[in-house]
Amino acid sequence: KIYPVILSGGSGTRLWPLSRAAYPKQFLPLVSEQTMLQETVARVGSWPEMQAPLVVCGNEHRFMIAEQMREIGVRPLGIMLEPQARNTAPAVAAAALHLQRLDPEAVMLVLPADHVITDVLAFHEAVRRALVSVQQGALATFGIEPTQPETGYGYILRGDVHGTDTGNYLVERFVEKPDLATATGFLKQGGYYWNSGMFLFKARDYLAELEAHRPLIGAAVKEAVSKAYSDLDFCRLDDAAFAASPSESIDYAVMENTSRAVVVPASIGWSDVGSWSALHEVLPADAEGNVVRGDVHLNQVKNTLVRAESRMVAVLGVEDLVVVETDDVVLVANREKVQEVKAFVEKLKNTE
Ligand code: GDD
Ligand code: MG
Repeated sequence: KIYPVILSGGSGTRLWPLSRAAYPKQFLPLVSEQTMLQETVARVGSWPEMQAPLVVCGNEHRFMIAEQMREIGVRPLGIMLEPQARNTAPAVAAAALHLQRLDPEAVMLVLPADHVITDVLAFHEAVRRALVSVQQGALATFGIEPTQPETGYGYILRGDVHGTDTGNYLVERFVEKPDLATATGFLKQGGYYWNSGMFLFKARDYLAELEAHRPLIGAAVKEAVSKAYSDLDFCRLDDAAFAASPSESIDYAVMENTSRAVVVPASIGWSDVGSWSALHEVLPADAEGNVVRGDVHLNQVKNTLVRAESRMVAVLGVEDLVVVETDDVVLVANREKVQEVKAFVEKLKNTE
């Protein structure tokens, strides 16, 4: 049995001003009528061997998540609440411990709640291929063919073929978020994939690798799960025990260190929609390359994304812009500079 584990704890500030701490991007309908969280859940819904999803998130988002699940008629296996964010290694560990108690053979499909996948059939196929390696004890990641030296991603160098007839590769090297020079070198060299941030492994194998490489996280989360209690439909991790866990991502804590990693090449139309320009690229554009949402009027405009939430927006004679209107903030940015939105927002917070 495969259990989807949906990670929904991030804050997605690069899509500010639409995405806010109280209302991060996974809860927004960015690419369709459904929110990214709902799309993520729906993507694994139509699938016989897939169990109901386990969602792991921060306490402050619990009602929004429960409500969004209800809207699409999905009853989650559980919603686990982190008393405070400790990044993804502890979040995945909490889910793994919980699942292992239900099912000692549990295989977990870890999915960020805020990604776009346009080819769902190819995605299912990739998961099935990953399962073959996972049954042989591997921790599988899904590798995306890189198109530019993006520094916000993990990079995976593929090695020999894994096992017999798996179609997957051993991970020779996993490098989380290299600097630009290193990433450029990787692309030149070839054989590297982007880490999609989605994983498939047995709960028990993840816990064993975590124990081997980050025993402090393992111990803290074990205690937090053993003292967890239910509250309405939620499972609350123990506050003090979870707080004692180091804060670290699964990529740094486990994937960079384990020797059991396997990469499954996946051509699935993946994007993590990590910026306004990434969103622009995944949405269908008009003949001029513009993407608009809401009450927007364009005249002599090219390659521009305009999103109007509460007012009419008129744009005249510009190119390569991002314009996002919300009822309290309007962002106007050069398309090439949108990676800097996050740092810009930090600065704005400090000057308020
Ligand atoms: N529950 C929970 N708790 N979820 C979290 C937490 C947490 O403390 N922190 C982050 N998440 C969720 C985010 O909401 C997102 O869905 C996912 O975990 C990944 O976290 P990000 O913060 O978005 O990671 P990243 O984008 O910097 O890097 C990861 O994804 C890249 C691809 O998008 C890494 O896995 C990279 O290697 C990868 O290339
Ligand atoms: Mg991300």
